[in-house]
Amino acid sequence: MASKKSITKTPVKKPALIGPFTLALDIGGTGLKASILNSKGTMVTERLRILTPENCPPQLMLSKLKELVALIPPTAPAYDRISVGFPGVVRDGKIYTAHNLGTKPWVNFDLAKALQKQFGKPCRVINDADLQGLAAVGQFGGKGVEMVITLGTGLGSSLFENGRLLPHMEFAHHPFRNNETYEEQLGEVKREEVGKKRWNKRVRLAIETLRELINFDHLYIGGGNAEKINFKLPPDVSIIPNTLGMMGGIYLWRD
Ligand code: BGC
Repeated sequence: MASKKSITKTPVKKPALIGPFTLALDIGGTGLKASILNSKGTMVTERLRILTPENCPPQLMLSKLKELVALIPPTAPAYDRISVGFPGVVRDGKIYTAHNLGTKPWVNFDLAKALQKQFGKPCRVINDADLQGLAAVGQFGGKGVEMVITLGTGLGSSLFENGRLLPHMEFAHHPFRNNETYEEQLGEVKREEVGKKRWNKRVRLAIETLRELINFDHLYIGGGNAEKINFKLPPDVSIIPNTLGMMGGIYLWRD
């Protein structure tokens, strides 16, 4: 059972109560978040967050998500379907990797099927940065080549062409500098270790390296650590709100 202290609630403004309603779950390396979205993808319940246990294998994750969903007030509209953002490689609802949860027990685990069984509603699961990207591009862009990176426990990435999600690539684990990957250089562990100034310098360099590699028309930066960027971003780079990680849930049910 999560202690009262470890549960955070983000209030939302009064949205339209029009369904179908989607239970959005954002699985992070540090926090598990839940909210219910209306037909437009607006959160109709406050965003609830509990801590992710360290090394969280599938069965423990399922019970934690049950605990989290049980915190949604009974007055909230009943949900018709479930959308999940997962911090690893996902194909057809099955997990391939889960670097920040401990990959081994997750390999080939059919998370979509397990959650569908647990909650009794249809469920779709994709990579967390792909999900956040769908919301970012859906709300702010949709033209040209757009890239999304998320800065948090890990480093998420997604790519879009004219609003269409391209095959998922794991920039997180690609070499960046000094024999370390993007995630090793920019993830939360390193941010705490090297401090604000050096971390920001690295973020700036990563933006320019990704620009040369992808030639993006626009780069969106999300995730809990995006707000820790302290330099002026170029005009083709912008910070997106972290709540998009929930709101993206609606796009999994759109054609
Ligand atoms: C994972 C990515 C994920 C990112 C953010 C990385 O460690 O490999 O798939 O998107 O963390 O959660």
